[in-house]
Amino acid sequence: MLILSKTAGVLSKPARRKTYEFLRIFNFHPGKPFLHKLVLGIETSCDDTAAAVVDETGNILGEAIHSQTEVHLKTGGIVPSVAQQLHRENIQRIVQEALSSSKVCPSELSAVATTVKPGLALSLGVGLSFSLHLVDQLKKPFIPIHHMEAHALTIRLLNKVDFPFLVLLISGGHCLLALVRGVSDFLLLGKSLDIAPGDMLDKVARRLSLIKHPECSTMSGGKAIEHLAKQGNKLHFDIKPPMQRAKNCDFSFSGLQHVVDRIITQKEKEEGIQKGEILASAAHIAAAVQHTTACHIAKRTHRAILFCKQRRLLPPSNAVLVVSGGVASNFYIRKALEIVTNATECTLLCPPPRLCTDNGIMIAWNGIERLCAGVGVLHNTEGIRYEPKCPLGVDISEEVGEAAIKVPRLKMDI
Ligand code: KG4
Ligand code: ZN
Repeated sequence: MLILSKTAGVLSKPARRKTYEFLRIFNFHPGKPFLHKLVLGIETSCDDTAAAVVDETGNILGEAIHSQTEVHLKTGGIVPSVAQQLHRENIQRIVQEALSSSKVCPSELSAVATTVKPGLALSLGVGLSFSLHLVDQLKKPFIPIHHMEAHALTIRLLNKVDFPFLVLLISGGHCLLALVRGVSDFLLLGKSLDIAPGDMLDKVARRLSLIKHPECSTMSGGKAIEHLAKQGNKLHFDIKPPMQRAKNCDFSFSGLQHVVDRIITQKEKEEGIQKGEILASAAHIAAAVQHTTACHIAKRTHRAILFCKQRRLLPPSNAVLVVSGGVASNFYIRKALEIVTNATECTLLCPPPRLCTDNGIMIAWNGIERLCAGVGVLHNTEGIRYEPKCPLGVDISEEVGEAAIKVPRLKMDI
């Protein structure tokens, strides 16, 4: 069920003032002609304030991003009101920087595309308020964007990937497997039943106090685990992958988090150290949790490929698996997925790390895709709302489970 939150159309005076100021800086002339489709994308769904200008051929003309990671690392997680305040402080500058570096005048834009779902209500609200006021002033169409759809379509900015293709989205807030049949035509094959893998890795990294580790202090939890895992032995701890008996494509990570939590508590006792100090065995723990995560993700993805091939939803040869989202920048997990795609004769495609994590480019590109397909381009924004929760596509995960496909065992030699 969709949860519709309060309307974002009401703008505060400071927000209005900011947009006027913004348009003055750009010497705005309405009605100037343009030759190509140009979209300004704005992303504020979580903890990154990002903007970019992209054209219809996939040229990134300008981009800017302000990451809040460092602030949230200090508070041990995202505090929504802090995220909102930081978005407010940065949105105008970031949009301005993206436009300035693109050398595109606001009047030349074909449309403004902005993430409106899913995400943190307070964060989504800042991007939506700013964007609605901007399109109102510019008299431009508005394209509301689903954050996960944008992650899924990013690959088409870089590679010629035709529909249908399979997508695995793994980040701090999301975990899903979907078949992409068109720009806004998705079949949801499976999702996490609890937390996302990035969230779990962030929690493990926090429990291990990796922020105090000299090599990891500025890294996100997932990146810190990947970094430290290189120095550890994944077989030092035997952690079983979750949901081994459930023959569907759903995921679960909170059980794994609790198992690792217990291991850490045990090790703290053995090593005689206090909670908050760095364990000597931290690298082994990082390696084991990363390996188990990779195996779990690989197995569910393997089943999704087999299901789609069995139902002729994907071509029998050269089917494409796209992996995106923050956790997709993990090279160990990519390697595990490569083992799966090699075994199933699929092609594995991952956007480069900077396009796997949240950015404005993917939002602008999603805007271009929708503009070209003629779907979801609004000329009247009345009543437009943000949606903190919003599933992606048509959920067929039960049907996938009923098919109960047995996945052949693969040797995960990574
Ligand atoms: O896509 P993203 O920027 O934001 C959303 O969650 O939507 O993803 C951020 C997540 C964080 O949980 C972070 O720890 C994780 O991606 N992450 C990684 C790596 N880099 C970022 N996880 C594993 N390995 C990495 N190298
Ligand atoms: Zn994301």
